[in-house]
Amino acid sequence: MNKKTVLSALSIVALAGTVAFAGTAPRSGIPGSIHDMTQYGALGGSDPEAQQGRVCAYCHTPHHAITEGNDYLPLWSHTVTTQTFTPYASATIDANIDPTTMMEGPSKLCMSCHDGSVAVDTHYAFNGGKKLQQDDNLFSTPAVGQNGNLSNDHPIGFIYDDADGGVAKGPATGDPTLGSHTDGKDEWIRTKSAKYAGSNLTIADRLWVSASQGGKPIMTCATCHDVHNKKNQDAVGATNYLLLASNTGSALCLSCHIK
Ligand code: HEC
Ligand code: HEC
Ligand code: HEC
Ligand code: HEC
Repeated sequence: MNKKTVLSALSIVALAGTVAFAGTAPRSGIPGSIHDMTQYGALGGSDPEAQQGRVCAYCHTPHHAITEGNDYLPLWSHTVTTQTFTPYASATIDANIDPTTMMEGPSKLCMSCHDGSVAVDTHYAFNGGKKLQQDDNLFSTPAVGQNGNLSNDHPIGFIYDDADGGVAKGPATGDPTLGSHTDGKDEWIRTKSAKYAGSNLTIADRLWVSASQGGKPIMTCATCHDVHNKKNQDAVGATNYLLLASNTGSALCLSCHIK
């Protein structure tokens, strides 16, 4: 049985009223969500934190957290990936993406599980062995950025707003004034003051102020996803991808791209 089958089996049980697995629903938080590692039975094994069902412990710890220079590691307990990443490139992209700074902020924290190089259950003093893309009997989600390859993924790690010298120049609402397409300035992407469809969050709320890019706001994995399953707007009944606007009608894409 793969993960999706397990989840749907669980939601049938939940519907039957015996187990409240409410967290699989969008916006209901970590417990029971896809980021509740206690549901992957084989994870952790003899690890006491797993046995106590400590959902936060796979990513955070109250004491003795990992620190490294000025890196953003919010009481972080999970070994961080050491891979370097190849960014997306294309003939039409305006954004400048520097591989040495692109993973600043939350992105590298996501990659500490999602690139498949560090085991999901490696946290605090426990060295796990269950990796994304390698333990398919536990996980059905493929790795993102495996072997450092983010060249076929939506770009991240670049300065977002026109005001800061970035690419997003379109108005917060409505249509852009038609002008000539200037290098580095895309008239067809909303500025950071625009709101995500169906939400009061602005794009600026979900950008990372990057020290290594002169204190300017950059796009990260967390500009599209909410790891804690709280601020996301996925449609109920659709797969919960932890998205800040719904995938229905491509509302997420249309929050930024004027297309
Ligand atoms: C799967 C990993 C993961 C789990 C599990 C997790 N977090 Fe987080 N947490 C993160 C990441 C990544 C960030 C960085 C912020 C971001 O992504 O926007 C973060 C940031 C935070 C922050 C900093 C402020 C913020 O919201 O950005 C707090 C507080 C926090 N988490 C609390 C918790 C608590 C409490 C739990 C358990 C109920 C928990 N987290 C479970 C990954 C996790
Ligand atoms: C501690 C490890 C860990 C960290 C850190 C982590 N994840 Fe995950 N994530 C997982 C696992 C495990 C799954 C479930 C995989 C499966 O069952 O197929 C998952 C699933 C997902 C999914 C898929 C949801 C679905 O329904 O298929 C998304 C999207 C996601 N994570 C995004 C993120 C983002 C963005 C971050 C950083 C802000 C992050 N994750 C941090 C371990 C992690
Ligand atoms: C531009 C928005 C955007 C950004 C940035 C983004 N994602 Fe996603 N992600 C999505 C959407 C939308 C989906 C839902 C799947 C789909 O529509 O194909 C998704 C799906 C996923 C999944 C589910 C499995 C899969 O491959 O479909 C994972 C895991 C994931 N994202 C992790 C990440 C991580 C880690 C980052 C940062 C490196 C990231 N995402 C950056 C929009 C984004
Ligand atoms: C938070 C805002 C935001 C969201 C959400 C978003 N994008 Fe983007 N996207 C951008 C920015 C900014 C760029 C960089 C454009 C540039 O530099 O020319 C970009 C780049 C792209 C590119 C590459 C353009 C090129 O010239 O190669 C494509 C294609 C794209 N996005 C499609 C999507 C799709 C499809 C979705 C929804 C799944 C989506 N985007 C969601 C902001 C966003």
